[in-house]
Amino acid sequence: MKRKILVTSALPYANGAIHLGHLVEYIQTDIWVRFQKMCGHECWYVCADDTHGTPIMLRAEKEGISPEVLIDRVHGEHTRDFAGFHVGFDNYYTTHSEETRACANDIFARLAAAGLIETRTIEQYYDPLKQMFLPDRFIKGECPKCGAHDQYGDNCESCGSAYTASELRNPYSAVSGARPELRQSEHYFFRLSDHRCQSFLRRWTQSEDRLQPEAANKLQEWLGEEGEDRLTDWDISRDAPYFGFEIPGAPGKYFYVWLDAPIGYMGSFRNLCSRTGLDFDEYWKDGSSTELYHFIGKDILYFHALFWPAELEHAGYRTPTRVFAHGFLTVDGAKMSKSRGTFITAESYLAQGLDPEWLRYYYAAKLSATMEDIDLNLDDFIARVNSDLVGKFVNIASRSAGFIVRHFAGRLCTCDESLHAVDAIRDRRAVIAGHYEGREFGKAIREIMALADLANQYVDRVKPWELARQPGSERELHTACSNAVNLFRLLAVLLKPVLPALAVKAEDFLNVAPFTWDDGATVLAAGHAIRSYRHMLTRVDRRQVDALVEANRQSLAAAPPPAPQRHAEHQEKAAARSAVEAEGPPVGGAHVALDEFMRVDLRVARIAEASHVEGADKLVRLLLDVGPLGRRQVFAGIKAAYDPAALVGRLTVVIVNLAPRKMRFGLSEGMILAASDPEGRQPGIFLLSADAGAQPGMRVK
Ligand code: 2FM
Ligand code: ZN
Repeated sequence: MKRKILVTSALPYANGAIHLGHLVEYIQTDIWVRFQKMCGHECWYVCADDTHGTPIMLRAEKEGISPEVLIDRVHGEHTRDFAGFHVGFDNYYTTHSEETRACANDIFARLAAAGLIETRTIEQYYDPLKQMFLPDRFIKGECPKCGAHDQYGDNCESCGSAYTASELRNPYSAVSGARPELRQSEHYFFRLSDHRCQSFLRRWTQSEDRLQPEAANKLQEWLGEEGEDRLTDWDISRDAPYFGFEIPGAPGKYFYVWLDAPIGYMGSFRNLCSRTGLDFDEYWKDGSSTELYHFIGKDILYFHALFWPAELEHAGYRTPTRVFAHGFLTVDGAKMSKSRGTFITAESYLAQGLDPEWLRYYYAAKLSATMEDIDLNLDDFIARVNSDLVGKFVNIASRSAGFIVRHFAGRLCTCDESLHAVDAIRDRRAVIAGHYEGREFGKAIREIMALADLANQYVDRVKPWELARQPGSERELHTACSNAVNLFRLLAVLLKPVLPALAVKAEDFLNVAPFTWDDGATVLAAGHAIRSYRHMLTRVDRRQVDALVEANRQSLAAAPPPAPQRHAEHQEKAAARSAVEAEGPPVGGAHVALDEFMRVDLRVARIAEASHVEGADKLVRLLLDVGPLGRRQVFAGIKAAYDPAALVGRLTVVIVNLAPRKMRFGLSEGMILAASDPEGRQPGIFLLSADAGAQPGMRVK
């Protein structure tokens, strides 16, 4: 039966680059969507940029451009990055659109008519210098519990306690530094505490497999037992100045970004409808003939499994069929980190010449239907891609196709369908389809690679390269290679949701129409002509991965203020932290607290040895004498500017408490300080030195 399916991924904020953490979700969703499409279902995948809110407004201001210009530019960057990783949206739109505005206004009006919107005057911090109300994340001060300085207005990173901004001691605005004052303002609330919402959500979250078991448990915790009524009303308005949609009939009041973000799913789909003639209502009003799935990160479950279904239900829309939450990405077992170079942007990955399908394959191999975090282990990444994709999969074609072209004019003979490997593939197809459908991609990959092993065992056994040398073995050679090409084709069909570009190359080489899932049940007819085989996939070279990490490494001193992390707009206490290491103030926070600076341990060091590094274009190996701290080996990217011999004996400054980094050439145990023009207009690297009299090991502050 042909299903009608609408799929979304979370909308990325329009003020930051897409990074490998984001890509877990988009690749996961894309694989699922491609699988559905291959099965012949009508499946639409929509997304958009999440464009509103205070961080985007302030970011634009800082860049000296309008928010519209900023979000346009970022839209271009996001579109480019997603396309680069073969994320095949049917529509990638923006929440800053008339479609989204119309849907937001409609939902708001319907909720108001249902008696679920209420206004209330609240007291909130106001920045008298910037003349704006401050979100909690833009207020800093001393933790009311432990007294730690420079803590955010919602929780303390030092002792972990949660509080409200008004509890902070000595608060200051992270935007202007001014002391904020409490001011009153009227806000609009969605009455989530209303018994209609609570009893609906209790039913909705615990029925029909809407949520993964771990997610359903979380929801149960948030909702409490019948009659407990734990939910509180949700503040859905913000005061001007704000970049967003003004609330109809409420001048100076805007919808909070999280109100219109999920409505952006509708806006994007409505835009798609206007281009394709699809029926909006069939997907969003009457849900009986269509399915709706949201892929999200586990940190935004609160928004998607509480607020969103309650809004939809009470505004007369259909609710999601299911919400799929995934875990965070770690790299080499730790949070992504700018200083370690593991906060890797999509753009840099592609710019360094890494193949996007390597990452798609690796993520697929790691993904499951649970909310567990997934780890990108860079050594494992290299090993797995090389052994599975190149060594097992592509190898089948590369070892057999040439003979077909050279000896048999490209024509295949009958495939032996009784072969064990062919039989096994047919046998496991349904199981693999079940894994794709159930988002158990890791299991699907394991099955497929076990089948690839069988195919390779066959090729190893028949040894086409030997048959080709034996006179009179033409027939065996033809059969062996035709079988191998068929096995390759069957595996390519199974891998197509994960490796769409490789599938296109395979279709081209095999001279066939785009694979459908059903193609996995058939073999190519005798006499079918293939094209000559061209190399389909290269091996990952460790140097590329090292260069990627190097390109993403930002020194603590040189790093520009990072884009606000996704939780900058998550004021709800329930929202979990993203797995991105917070390494600086949110946007607008131009200051570093003294104690933050003091955490960087800078020392005077004497360069005891300096030498070239074999195989490195930029690096010099330094052995530093740091007085009582002993000797440290450091690899510094200063080769273009300094002759190692001239460095020996001079004093410089080194950060000694950076986590050591394992490099191809050895361990780097620190970083020396040097100046350079960030724009690259003035050439040169200028090493810092210390005046005469300074001794190795002296603290620099
Ligand atoms: O957390 C985030 O990155 C949000 N921009 C996700 C929004 S998802 C949906 F609700 F729009
Ligand atoms: Zn504290």
